[in-house]
Amino acid sequence: MKRQILWIAIFLAVVAVSSSAFAGDHEYVGAAKCKMCHKVQYASWEGTKHAKATETAKAGTDREWSADCAKCHATNASEDLAGVQCEACHGAGADFKKMSIMKDRESAVSNGLVIPTQATCDGCHTGEDHATKKVMADELGNKEAIHDFKNPPGE
Ligand code: HEC
Ligand code: HEC
Ligand code: HEC
Ligand code: HEC
Repeated sequence: MKRQILWIAIFLAVVAVSSSAFAGDHEYVGAAKCKMCHKVQYASWEGTKHAKATETAKAGTDREWSADCAKCHATNASEDLAGVQCEACHGAGADFKKMSIMKDRESAVSNGLVIPTQATCDGCHTGEDHATKKVMADELGNKEAIHDFKNPPGE
């Protein structure tokens, strides 16, 4: 009986450790790392307002720049990752950017890849103050916001 309890305890500890590794604590690598395999998306993303969101906020005259602005006007709330980069919408890439993982959607997702949903946008487009709400489905063709697609969603 005692031995059984011990095994259950070990099992639970293993589950706890492995599930915390999947809880979203992946590292950010920056958009340049995605560029080599996703040239189409990168080239058009560069021209979006998202890509320039840090400079725009700093240049604005209505509000003064502070570290707090970076949580929506940069990636991972860090000016080192200026602009709303790939990983702000697709998740931190260190663990999914390898070809062997990327080419299998399921394993990419279990290594941190995010296929954006409305909730992804809502994280920054909160509807409060100047952070206007945006409906993702209405913006997929908006080149000021989302990049060109190689395999367009829904096709
Ligand atoms: C070594 C090449 C490589 C790198 C680096 C890479 N990817 Fe990919 N990615 C692929 C391949 C291959 C696919 C699957 C086929 C396709 O969509 O072209 C893919 C698919 C995707 C998809 C579509 C998933 C789906 O099923 O809808 C997204 C989103 C994505 N990658 C984002 C990123 C981001 C963000 C980065 C940088 C952090 C990145 N990728 C880095 C090769 C790469
Ligand atoms: C909760 C997220 C969030 C925070 C925090 C935030 N912004 Fe914004 N900001 C947005 C969004 C979303 C837009 C785009 C709104 C649109 O185009 O409808 C935007 C747009 C802007 C613009 C361009 C359009 C305009 O309204 O003038 C400037 C400039 C700006 N923000 C500056 C700042 C500064 C400076 C800070 C910090 C004091 C800040 N923002 C904090 C989300 C945020
Ligand atoms: C990390 C925060 C963040 C995320 C996530 C985010 N946005 Fe934004 N978005 C911004 C900021 C900041 C701006 C303002 C950029 C500027 O004006 O320089 C903006 C601007 C926009 C604009 C205005 C561009 C134009 O047409 O003038 C649209 C539309 C938009 N976002 C849609 C979306 C959608 C749809 C999603 C989800 C797929 C999304 N955003 C995800 C922060 C974010
Ligand atoms: C503002 C949010 C946002 C940013 C920033 C963003 N994406 Fe996307 N991306 C999307 C949305 C939305 C889709 C469509 C999701 C769906 O419905 O399948 C998408 C789809 C994709 C796809 C799959 C469709 C295709 O083109 O084959 C790839 C690959 C991709 N993105 C790569 C990137 C890369 C690389 C970057 C940075 C250079 C980037 N994305 C930046 C929102 C974003």
